[in-house]
Amino acid sequence: MTGATSGIGKAIALLFAQEGARVVVVGRNQERGRETVSEIESKGGEAVFLPTELTDEEEVKKMVADALDRFGQIDILVNNAGVVFNGTIPETDLANWNDVFHVNVTSAYLVSRFVLPHMLERKSGVIINVSSEAGLKGLRSRAAYCTAKAALIGLTKAMAADHSPDGIRVNVVCPGTVETPMVAKVIASHPRPEEIRKEFISRRMTPFLGTPEEIAHAALYLASPEARYVTGAVLAVDGGSSAK
Ligand SMILES: NC(=O)c1ccc[n+]([C@@H]2O[C@H](COP(=O)([O-])OP(=O)(O)OC[C@H]3O[C@@H](n4cnc5c(N)ncnc54)[C@H](OP(=O)(O)O)[C@@H]3O)[C@@H](O)[C@H]2O)c1
Repeated sequence: MTGATSGIGKAIALLFAQEGARVVVVGRNQERGRETVSEIESKGGEAVFLPTELTDEEEVKKMVADALDRFGQIDILVNNAGVVFNGTIPETDLANWNDVFHVNVTSAYLVSRFVLPHMLERKSGVIINVSSEAGLKGLRSRAAYCTAKAALIGLTKAMAADHSPDGIRVNVVCPGTVETPMVAKVIASHPRPEEIRKEFISRRMTPFLGTPEEIAHAALYLASPEARYVTGAVLAVDGGSSAK
């Protein structure tokens, strides 16, 4: 579970643990990583924190090997880690562009690359990628982020086409704005925070924003046996934003 030290990823980790999954918490922040593990353990669940820089191939390779050492198998992979950059193309320098691509797209490719051979060997597995409404439509001042999140949808469909015949389902969840530390940072950095919050709400059909737990429940469905026939799917959980 990448990006499980915060926000949506943490909510998915807690819900999956509650449902009996043994969770590998992946992120960089030691304190928040240990916090996620403690919360899972305090509710009787099992988890381990493997601090990892997800844009580093060697670190990702080691993390997957350590996860397999610890738990013996990986049934579900959630590629959730992400980072947002606000800006139009002229406002986005190459370092910003690369950072957004490396964290949102390359990390999902890298983790999948090391996990898939194991899933292929067992002819079983579920991969859930976390994209965004930004991958489905053009949002103002999010050029790199929209492009990266659209690429993640493409990666999902390509992996689903390649590996669904081998028993591996690959799907993508596209959350709309959810109140997490990532979004709190965007709101706080705006000169008129209340205005941007209203703008986020006005993009959707619902008069409210989502919660991390609502995204976690969508991921739980995709991970469940009830979703046996669901692969290559793009599931928007965005208050109707992408349909508007
Ligand atoms: N919040 C929203 O409104 C929203 C809407 C649509 C889509 N999303 C997507 O949902 C996902 C989670 O978002 P969030 O709002 O929960 O974000 P968040 O609270 O900022 O959490 C981001 C997570 O990604 C991890 N991460 C970032 N860069 C990393 C790196 N280089 N190596 C390892 N881990 C890294 C962070 O771990 P460390 O800090 O420990 O490194 C953290 O756990 C993202 O993919 C985001 O794009 C969010």
